[in-house]
Amino acid sequence: MSLRAAAGEATVTERSPAVVPVHVGVIMDGNGRWATSRKLPRVEGHRRGVEALRRCVRAAREVGIRFLTIYSFSSENWSRPLTEVRELMGLLKLFLRHDLADLHADNVRVKVIGERDNLAPDIRQLLVDAEALTCNNTGLTLVVAFNYGSRQEIAAAVSRIAADVAAGRVRPQDVDVDMISQRLETAGIPDPDLIVRTSGEQRLSNFLLWQAAYSEFVFLPIYWPDFDKAALLAAIDEYARRDRRFGGVTKCPGP
Ligand code: FPP
Repeated sequence: MSLRAAAGEATVTERSPAVVPVHVGVIMDGNGRWATSRKLPRVEGHRRGVEALRRCVRAAREVGIRFLTIYSFSSENWSRPLTEVRELMGLLKLFLRHDLADLHADNVRVKVIGERDNLAPDIRQLLVDAEALTCNNTGLTLVVAFNYGSRQEIAAAVSRIAADVAAGRVRPQDVDVDMISQRLETAGIPDPDLIVRTSGEQRLSNFLLWQAAYSEFVFLPIYWPDFDKAALLAAIDEYARRDRRFGGVTKCPGP
């Protein structure tokens, strides 16, 4: 069955709020393969990926998702050819400059996670400006994971806790799951209910490792530039069929 058929008509927007995940993480994979399968340069896949990102944000708002975290550049993506790294940096700038006003008008709050120190000053400033402009918005929170690596995020959190222990501000026996969660960059954001990865690859690739402890995973057999609302609805419908037990047992229906 095609994704579109699985999701019903692409125009269908309604899903019961009970089945809509609060927080969706998206690993936007397959830009390069989308392009090379069309004999286009890889960067063309990334450019089309920005259009898919716009569709994704719009669809997430329409179906009532509260938090959308997008994996737009990983800590490991620096190992790509310099031209591709430059293109991805340029696309982030383009996205923030071109789309920020619309996001703000749509009541979207932008939050950025990831290491900023080794980003160019103009990019760092754009990230600060985007967060400042939208910080009081109350609609969808768009979490942009840029230069983000989950292991690095966890290591930094543990390092801060270790410093607090060394300074006597925290007792070792008080270090617990909540304390670590609160020291992550995602503090205050609920853990993702659903993580979607496009392109058919089935791995997390250093994305929200801690936060995804009880996430449901849906792997879509399409490349990211082809992502649309029907694909999001198909992922949500698959999520709605899952039995989330969080380590417990399914509640038996009453007699
Ligand atoms: C993975 O596809 C995608 C990325 C590493 C970058 C994702 C970027 C975008 C969707 C557009 C840019 C958006 C912003 C906000 C910067 P891949 O290149 O690994 O594809 P492949 O596995 O087929 O090679």
